[in-house]
Amino acid sequence: MPNIFAPSSNVIGKMAIIGVATSPLVAMITISQFTRSGYVTKVGTAFEQPVPFSHEHHVTELGLDCRYCHTSVEKSAKAGYPATHTCMSCHSQVWSNSPLLEPVRESYEKNIPLKWTTLNKVPEFVYFNHSIHINRGVNCNNCHGPVQAMQMAYKGRPFQMAWCLDCHRHPEKYVGKPGSAFDLYEKIRKTKTGTVLHDEKTGKKEWAGSGLTEEEQTLMLGEQYARKGEELEEGKKLVKEYNIKVEQLSDCAVCHH
Ligand code: HEC
Ligand code: HEC
Ligand code: HEC
Ligand code: HEC
Ligand code: HEC
Repeated sequence: MPNIFAPSSNVIGKMAIIGVATSPLVAMITISQFTRSGYVTKVGTAFEQPVPFSHEHHVTELGLDCRYCHTSVEKSAKAGYPATHTCMSCHSQVWSNSPLLEPVRESYEKNIPLKWTTLNKVPEFVYFNHSIHINRGVNCNNCHGPVQAMQMAYKGRPFQMAWCLDCHRHPEKYVGKPGSAFDLYEKIRKTKTGTVLHDEKTGKKEWAGSGLTEEEQTLMLGEQYARKGEELEEGKKLVKEYNIKVEQLSDCAVCHH
């Protein structure tokens, strides 16, 4: 665990002190014995859903904005799932007889919401909030993998604490200009070139098209980009402009209230 915590901190000592002072942490450790394995696995596996909804189709091919369906992602903790009428605004006309859409029609007629299975979650004792991340220009793919290319959504990252902390210690590697969290998809929409090619033999993924920065290409594939030189300087400037207090961003209380 040493690389999870700052090199200077005495992990055991620190946790013991906090543990005595605040019992939720003790509860946390106990709970995590049960929950951990469930949360760290399942990356990359598609889940059972009432309707085989394809992000690749609706986002890359049709060009729908994330916020059209995940309406609260910029404003609140939860991104949210679309209401049935959002689907029906098109599917009462388009593919209105498709058997795949039967559950959507039924939900609409009976006024019973569709039950989407949540893939991405953190344990109860962890606080997470979408809006602050989106407002700091962090693109969704950083945390969810190549969503715009997913046929069936799957979990793109394991959400271990060390992963959250890596960014909280070095936000300059990830933050973007205000309002830039959706730039990648906007470009894909405009250029219509955002196709991820899979080499069947090698399993290697490649990007086809033009007009994306190197960082956007990497993000598009759902991989982690290592900023360098000017990009890092730009990141550091943004951290200052946003007034992000980097030393405090990995304090336990940020994520564990
Ligand atoms: C902006 C319009 C629009 C919205 C909103 C929309 N869709 Fe679609 N959807 C389409 C179009 C167009 C097609 C595909 C036609 C094609 O294959 O070329 C499609 C295809 C589909 C298919 C495949 C149907 C088949 O028989 O192959 C499913 C399933 C689907 N959509 C589910 C949904 C769900 C669930 C929602 C709401 C969360 C939704 N769609 C919202 C336009 C929309
Ligand atoms: C037409 C509606 C629609 C649009 C547009 C859309 N989504 Fe979704 N999204 C859904 C639906 C429905 C689900 C639940 C079913 C599933 O998991 O595929 C979902 C699920 C997800 C999930 C998994 C949620 C979980 O359960 O953990 C993520 C992450 C996600 N979307 C991200 C995005 C991003 C990023 C964009 C924009 C690039 C986007 N979505 C655009 C409808 C949409
Ligand atoms: C900094 C990482 C991060 C970014 C950026 C991010 N997410 Fe998430 N997302 C998460 C985490 C963590 C969870 C689980 C949260 C929980 O359990 O409350 C999650 C859960 C979700 C869910 C399912 C539960 C919910 O909140 O409704 C959806 C849908 C989703 N994200 C969509 C998006 C979309 C769309 C974007 C971009 C506009 C996005 N996310 C950007 C980390 C992120
Ligand atoms: C890609 C970078 C990145 C990742 C990954 C990330 N964060 Fe953040 N997080 C940030 C940035 C940037 C801020 C904003 C700091 C600021 O503006 O002061 C932030 C702020 C927060 C805040 C403060 C919110 C508030 O309302 O004050 C919480 C809580 C948080 N993150 C939880 C998490 C959790 C939990 C995870 C892992 C599941 C996570 N973050 C993963 C970059 C990230
Ligand atoms: C940026 C957010 C964030 C910060 C800051 C943070 N944690 Fe966590 N913590 C998490 C997440 C996410 C999990 C759940 C990990 C999982 O499910 O694998 C977690 C889990 C834990 C657990 C359960 C055991 C485990 O590893 O799963 C303990 C104990 C814990 N954190 C203690 C701490 C302490 C002590 C600090 C301060 C030094 C701290 N955390 C700071 C996000 C954070």
